[in-house]
Amino acid sequence: MRYIGNKTRLVPFILDVVGDVQPDAGVACDPFAGTASVSRALKDRGWTVRSGDLLAFSYALQVAHVELDRTPRFPAPLVEDAEERGAGRWLSYTRLLAYLNGLPPRHGFISENYSPAGRAGARHGRMYFTPGNAGAIDAAREQIAAWSEGERLDPARSQFLIATLVEAADRVANTTGVYASFVKSWQPNARRQLELRPLKPTSRRNGGRPSTAYLGEAEELVASVGTVDLLYLDPPYNERQYPAYYHVPEVIAAGWSTPPKLRGKTGLIPDDALRSDWCRRARCEASLRALIDRADAKHILLSYNDEGLLAAEVIAAVFREAGDEDSYRRADVKYRRYRSDGDGPSRTYLRDRVQEQLHYIRRT
Ligand SMILES: C[S@@+](CC[C@H](N)C(=O)[O-])C[C@H]1O[C@@H](n2cnc3c(N)ncnc32)[C@H](O)[C@@H]1O
Repeated sequence: MRYIGNKTRLVPFILDVVGDVQPDAGVACDPFAGTASVSRALKDRGWTVRSGDLLAFSYALQVAHVELDRTPRFPAPLVEDAEERGAGRWLSYTRLLAYLNGLPPRHGFISENYSPAGRAGARHGRMYFTPGNAGAIDAAREQIAAWSEGERLDPARSQFLIATLVEAADRVANTTGVYASFVKSWQPNARRQLELRPLKPTSRRNGGRPSTAYLGEAEELVASVGTVDLLYLDPPYNERQYPAYYHVPEVIAAGWSTPPKLRGKTGLIPDDALRSDWCRRARCEASLRALIDRADAKHILLSYNDEGLLAAEVIAAVFREAGDEDSYRRADVKYRRYRSDGDGPSRTYLRDRVQEQLHYIRRT
């Protein structure tokens, strides 16, 4: 999924540094997991991972890629007549996706609010999804909710399907990458039909304990996981609050059994509980100190960049105070800036490249 701060392309760099400080895989905690790119890579290298994030769609992606070790199969009775039609007691993931892809569209929360098919959507001119795709998202999401509420689908399988839907919806979203705005004419990707495509969980390679996903505050996760070998921190580094940029996938993941009260032209969700102190200049240093204070980790790595709210010198000072001063190191890599759109009359990027930093300290 396209995501601000997604570290997929930086994974080799991060793994190199991890390999230097601790060659043998152990237990890692990634409390700002986002798309789970780093958690997945660590798990693939044999680490046991404790991932987390404040956002529901991140949690779904974490379950899909971190918590699950293999593609699950699904109880055949989910789909009417499946057993009679020779499916046996279990349905494969691909057959279930074919079923979800074939559902007739419904007019649900997404159609009503994020496409021109709905009254609220039309009133605000919202064009996040074509009416056809909005109806297909509604049909799939409401079906998953009905299965889960009837306890016919366990929570992990439910999250796995939600993650599959979030990824599918993102491919046909009429945006330039973030949901802070929508494009005023249908783009080619938005005109394509929604298609749920299989995701692939990362296999467990640690020969032992399962990895886990968490929905909630980084500080809570760090305080609850106990001793870990590696704490990998990738917090937001500027004032952009993630829920304002990804409110649509958040609605799709959280569902609308209690419909959120939307506001503004883009249909923002109530996000008081999701706003992050890491995006507030006056609070981010205290957040870093508090998090490190709570952590019981041998190694701490922090991804940040040179345009962030915290100056590199401040991070270095906090790290040195928190661990073995002489072990402090910073590795930098030039990285192509995340651009949700190109230069235009309203926006000119002054620099095309930013410097990604990886700060390291060993705890004493
Ligand atoms: C830079 S992104 C992480 C990107 C991730 N490493 C990836 O590769 O996709 C920061 C993430 O931190 C999450 N976040 C912000 N404040 C948080 C908090 N206080 N506790 C937990 N997660 C938080 C955001 O929702 C966002 O997903």
